[in-house]
Amino acid sequence: MNATSPLLEVEGLHVAYGKAEVVHGVDFRVHSGEFVVLLGRNGAGKSTILHALSGLIPKRGGRVRFGGHDISGATPREIVRAGLVQVLEGHRVFGTLTVEDNLAIGTYASDRRADATQFERMYTLFPELAERRRLPASKLSGGQQQILAVAQGVIASPKLLILDEPSSGLAPLVVDRILSVAADLCRSGMAVLLVEQLVEKALQHAHRCCLIETGRVVAEGAADEIRRGEVLERVYLGDHTAS
Ligand SMILES: Nc1ncnc2c1ncn2[C@@H]1O[C@H](COP(=O)(O)OP(=O)(O)O)[C@@H](O)[C@H]1O
Ligand SMILES: [Mg+2]
Repeated sequence: MNATSPLLEVEGLHVAYGKAEVVHGVDFRVHSGEFVVLLGRNGAGKSTILHALSGLIPKRGGRVRFGGHDISGATPREIVRAGLVQVLEGHRVFGTLTVEDNLAIGTYASDRRADATQFERMYTLFPELAERRRLPASKLSGGQQQILAVAQGVIASPKLLILDEPSSGLAPLVVDRILSVAADLCRSGMAVLLVEQLVEKALQHAHRCCLIETGRVVAEGAADEIRRGEVLERVYLGDHTAS
């Protein structure tokens, strides 16, 4: 892979649930250190795209390349080991386990054993977790649990971190915190692929944006351009008369 080739390259991705195809030939790219946001209304197919990339649901067609390798047919474990880690929708942490044990789980799928420096790195990035490392995750607030879920993804040092609606159910300050941490991680070379309903906030942090409408990419561009453009309104307000 040379410096200019994309980290993630999705070509002609089709995904179906049984006979019902919901993703109809999606193409997009993410480069190293880039922050890309997928926007689109509920049911547009965003989570389906992400799950297909992570290998959690099968692809009906198309090709996914990651870090110069074809991962179209790879298993979720192989995909994680290649450096593509998804934080699932909802704050999925293990409530009865401590914060530290939840972080340890984040290291299991990667090929590196958990060591003290990885934990310390997470505690520096997320001081709210450092103070609570011995507490069961169930004692954390919703926002802290979501931060833990993100940290579980970050501790494996992914090349690409995928976040599916990290803001859902959280206070605006927590959302800002999560998105600004993601942006900081991008500045240190990690790429982020985000799905987010808080469009303004997402576009503030993202470099690029893809708009998804009923399983297709209907617009793509620099976050600033998309922010100013009409296409955003069209997608969210459902005006299908514009071309
Ligand atoms: N497990 C599933 N089985 C069948 N249909 C599904 C399933 N998950 C999602 N869908 C359908 O696929 C479409 C896209 O859903 P989804 O990817 O969750 O959208 P988004 O994340 O953009 O809100 C929707 O029509 C949804 O009802
Ligand atoms: Mg979704």
